[in-house]
Amino acid sequence: MQILVTGGTGYIGSHTCVELLKAGYEVVVLDNLSNSNLIALDRVKEITGKEIKFYKADLLNKDEISAVFHQNNIEAVIHFAGLKAVGESNRIPLKYYQNNITGTLNLCEIMGNFGVKRLVFSSSATVYSRFNENPLTEDSKLGATNPYGRTKLMLEQILEDLYISDKEWNITLLRYFNPIGAHESTLIGEDPNDIPNNLVPYITQVAVGKLDELKIFGNDYPTPDGTGLRDYIHVIDLAIGHIKALDQSKNTTGFNVYNLGTGNSYSVLDVIKTFEEISGKKISYKIVERRSGDIAVCYANPEKAFKELNWKAERDLKSMLRDSWNWQRNNKNGYSTYNKVLN
Ligand code: NAD
Ligand code: WQD
Repeated sequence: MQILVTGGTGYIGSHTCVELLKAGYEVVVLDNLSNSNLIALDRVKEITGKEIKFYKADLLNKDEISAVFHQNNIEAVIHFAGLKAVGESNRIPLKYYQNNITGTLNLCEIMGNFGVKRLVFSSSATVYSRFNENPLTEDSKLGATNPYGRTKLMLEQILEDLYISDKEWNITLLRYFNPIGAHESTLIGEDPNDIPNNLVPYITQVAVGKLDELKIFGNDYPTPDGTGLRDYIHVIDLAIGHIKALDQSKNTTGFNVYNLGTGNSYSVLDVIKTFEEISGKKISYKIVERRSGDIAVCYANPEKAFKELNWKAERDLKSMLRDSWNWQRNNKNGYSTYNKVLN
């Protein structure tokens, strides 16, 4: 029996493949490579010494999905595939709705056709309304503010409707907070196509000399130092959360939602300071206007995942930033180059 990982060549997917293989699962990856590089899977094989079956396929093409189910014995699906850039989703909303929503509808339809009814879905803390007290629990108010976030919120509702209509399904929604870090081998990591939107890849690219300076989006938020507070989580801890969710869903049915965060929050200035400590690099920055749509504070109450999945994030901010930094300096141009500079 195999686990199908959609979006498995991407950032979180590739790290999850490593943990799946380590846990003894057989893995099949489906990805259209629209935001990833197949080299990531060679690296996963190098890390684990195990094989992965890969299909270049698009979730918008039902025949391509069906072929994967025909040719394999899939027992469950971890569904990462989707577009994820908030700013881009404001510019091209239809593409986001089509790719993320239609893609997931197609996947679920074909899973149902093949009697595969176990799904772990990548959701996001972005589904929480900005009008909440922190830390956020799974019962906090929902409400998205951009097309990307709305695709996640709509998909959560669609998947719940699916479960209500057919209780043979087991569907787990995992709401990720801010994933950063990389595998400690430095062989896989986050490889943004363009100028990074997210804080940590931006910082590592400044440190390696690809970008000049960081722009801090506002220092007048109601937080201790005025910059935004976030719950950064190591991508390996996140990946392990998927294995726990998968294990829990075996031989049961149900619909469950979990926050995957650390429960800690750090400001932009905290992240810069810690990064400078672990890397020995100075990060130039300037304060600019707030970024539209940003919120002051966002961090998880991760108790439910601890109680029900026996999962807890183990890695601290220093190790997250160390691993992001080591990945970046060994792969200055992401998967297109690899220059080992570690001892
Ligand atoms: P990523 O872009 O690295 O990986 C997504 C993968 O999906 C890519 O490899 C891409 O090629 C593939 N893909 C996209 N559309 C596809 C389609 N129609 N058919 C087949 N493959 C397709 O992103 P990631 O950071 O690894 O995120 C994985 C998932 O987690 C996404 O659903 C994302 O929305 C969600 N998420 C990410 C974050 C984050 O900060 N990285 C936070 C919360 C949730
Ligand atoms: C973190 C902090 C910024 C960049 C985003 C998505 C969210 C989720 C995770 C997918 C904030 C500040 C950032 C920069 C800065 N993705 N910042 N300068 O916004 O919490 O979440 O990624 O689901 O949906 O919105 O993450 O890393 O962009 O920002 O000052 O160049 O860093 O204002 O306070 P965010 P981020």
